Amino acid sequence: MLHDPNRVYVFDTTLRDGEQVPGCQLTTPEKIEIAKELEALGVDIIEAGFPISSPGDFQSVVELSKAVSEPIICALTRANKGDIDSAVAALKYAKRPRIHTGIGSSDMHIKHKFNSTREEILERAVEAVKYAKQFVEDIEFYAEDAGRADIQFLAQMVEAVIGAGATVVNIPDTNGYCLPDQYGSKIKFLKENVKNIDQAIISVHCHNDLGLATANSIAGLQNGARQIEGTINGIGERAGNTSIEEVVMILKTHQVLGLHTHINSKNFYELSRMVSSQMRMPVQPNKAIVGSNAFAHSSGIHQDGFLKNRENYEIIRPEDVGFPDASIVLTARSGRHALKFHLERLGFNLSKEELGEAYHRFLTVADSKLDINDQDLLLMMDKSQLA
Ligand code: KIV
Ligand code: ZN
Repeated sequence: MLHDPNRVYVFDTTLRDGEQVPGCQLTTPEKIEIAKELEALGVDIIEAGFPISSPGDFQSVVELSKAVSEPIICALTRANKGDIDSAVAALKYAKRPRIHTGIGSSDMHIKHKFNSTREEILERAVEAVKYAKQFVEDIEFYAEDAGRADIQFLAQMVEAVIGAGATVVNIPDTNGYCLPDQYGSKIKFLKENVKNIDQAIISVHCHNDLGLATANSIAGLQNGARQIEGTINGIGERAGNTSIEEVVMILKTHQVLGLHTHINSKNFYELSRMVSSQMRMPVQPNKAIVGSNAFAHSSGIHQDGFLKNRENYEIIRPEDVGFPDASIVLTARSGRHALKFHLERLGFNLSKEELGEAYHRFLTVADSKLDINDQDLLLMMDKSQLA
């Protein structure tokens, strides 16, 4: 039951959709370590795995259920009894279990993946939800490839599974196909045309094949979805899933949207590094929110503006996401103001003329190096008459 209509629930699938990425597989103890940090981050739901897929995944769901108490622990299944039985068994120790079951909803999947018909698929969807509901109260249904599904059929499916007991309806853009306004309109249509939609939470689950996962997730939330599914660092199948850190910081930055989560954003940076190192998946330096350059200022114009007032070039404070600090990177494109800032930090208080002379020497050094560190500056000052 929703109490606060503006609260967005955060569903983390780093350990399921994220862990499916080749080379990212984790051991159960590694998964437990990440799950505990996800709990500290304040996620509402942790998708712990796909129990039928392997004995290792089954065991991970069992152990995570024991290790974590606050978030809901969710297990993925296909729409069949065997998968659901396995998930029920794996969730035995979960204080708040959820089963995430579903089936394809686009004609593409219905014909070319299931070799079936809309009628049969609808029946299987309803049967799966009813079956799972006998064991677990909280049932999330995913309409796979909803991004490409016929909207009338999708609405019919959503209404039927809510009628069968689904508490959350996940509308995945499985292939990252939609444009933000298309995806937003889909959610709006469901909100306005599915009779029993108020009995469930709509969830957005977007993939990043066209680089639109975050934009699509926000469009979904703006149109009435209240759960967002994603991963830390945006890892996931192919081009990845929606980055949780991006969605959360968008909601914080644009308070005009009137939506909020219960996430402790100060934990993002550390968790991002933990996921990256355990999954052997480097974070690209220009990754929004958690990339190593996300708060680095390197051109002279930006550095000058930043040093006058950091808000000239900072819309998020690095400390709000646990980032060590904004940095003024010294390169051959830096200006005097940035050099003065670093020299003062190292204890050199120079007159205007002295700074001019130091800057001249600095440019010579900077032209021969990609970036300048404290050692380079100390050496440069040592050799000059200014020290
Ligand atoms: O992308 C997708 O459709 C999924 C479902 C299994 C939820 O990951
Ligand atoms: Zn997915």
